[in-house]
Amino acid sequence: MRTLLSAALIASLAVTTTEQTRPGAGATRTATTAQADGKTIELFTLRNASGVEVQAISLGATITSWKVPDRSGQLGDIVLGFDTAERYLKGDSPYFGAVVGRYGNRIAKAQFNLDGKAFPLAANDGVNHLHGGKRGFDKVVWDGSIVKDGRGPTVAFRRVSPDGEEGYPGTLEVRVTYTLTDKGELIVEYEAKSDKPTVVNLTQHSYFNLSAGAAADVLGHELRLNADRYTPVDATLIPTGELAPVEGTPFDFRKATAIGARIKNEHPQMQFGRGYDHNWVLARSTPDLVLAAEVLEPTSGRTLTVHTTEPGIQFYSGNFLDGKLAGKGGRAYGQRAGFCLETQHFPDSPNQERFPSTTLRPGEVYRSRTVFTTGAR
Ligand code: GAL
Repeated sequence: MRTLLSAALIASLAVTTTEQTRPGAGATRTATTAQADGKTIELFTLRNASGVEVQAISLGATITSWKVPDRSGQLGDIVLGFDTAERYLKGDSPYFGAVVGRYGNRIAKAQFNLDGKAFPLAANDGVNHLHGGKRGFDKVVWDGSIVKDGRGPTVAFRRVSPDGEEGYPGTLEVRVTYTLTDKGELIVEYEAKSDKPTVVNLTQHSYFNLSAGAAADVLGHELRLNADRYTPVDATLIPTGELAPVEGTPFDFRKATAIGARIKNEHPQMQFGRGYDHNWVLARSTPDLVLAAEVLEPTSGRTLTVHTTEPGIQFYSGNFLDGKLAGKGGRAYGQRAGFCLETQHFPDSPNQERFPSTTLRPGEVYRSRTVFTTGAR
């Protein structure tokens, strides 16, 4: 009997290019039916030899699915998001899986000074600026391509952010790569150059739920953060400038603790964030990769470990999810359906002299690396 292929399937096969790096592992590139900025949004799939599969679309360099085996080998998708590229275009995604920039996290009163000049930015979070503004890096189409990398299948996303975009000075050339290794690592590398002094703080905004949909919230996940200080915030989630000890507070994750164990604690900081929505100061002994976070989902046995070159990590417990967004498979994402671990420089650094600098000057190269390792035990 002959197999009949539908016209749509043939069309989609025609635009698929495959690069096999080793048996079972590889990268593919496929055109989706969605278009924006006059470009077709493309879907990239990375697969490793042990069956882990990561998919990302060129809109926002967004990770749309991340399939990982549990302790019995059952594959499950550990990130929140939508089923189609079109759905991401609606503009109501709370940064599901996206790369956020030019400045991830908040800048107070939507303004900063650099070399004596004030730069007003879009106020898109009350009076503050959040995640790059009204049309941040998450909402634009990047140029994606499969690139050769000895470590594993790799997709590179590039874009040029024009001088003045969302109020930021300088033309910024940006490149983000995702490399999937056979050890279950997703290596995320960022590079940027500017032709004028500017500020840069790029991060990955995946929402994880390691139960892969089996649990409606992430409160049972056990989290460890390699940090003995955090940056307390005001009621609008802007750091006060203090680096406070976590000791004796619900922010102490130096020993693995369930996310839900203290989430209803009356600590005033927990009221501001409606739960966890803070930046932790990573314990760092080298400028290279250090351990930032370890997570275990006890039912499935899935684990996630995060290493980074960044000084901080925002642990956001999905507090603003309210069940109104229907995600993959029509599933309503209620409060705390997922959590984010955003490796980064501290929020509002451009206005905080004592925080590590986020200034990038012409001739310098911004480089940042984060490695997410998945596993099961
Ligand atoms: C997080 C941020 C939260 C919220 C969320 C998007 O990165 O810390 O406060 O803005 O993004 O809904």
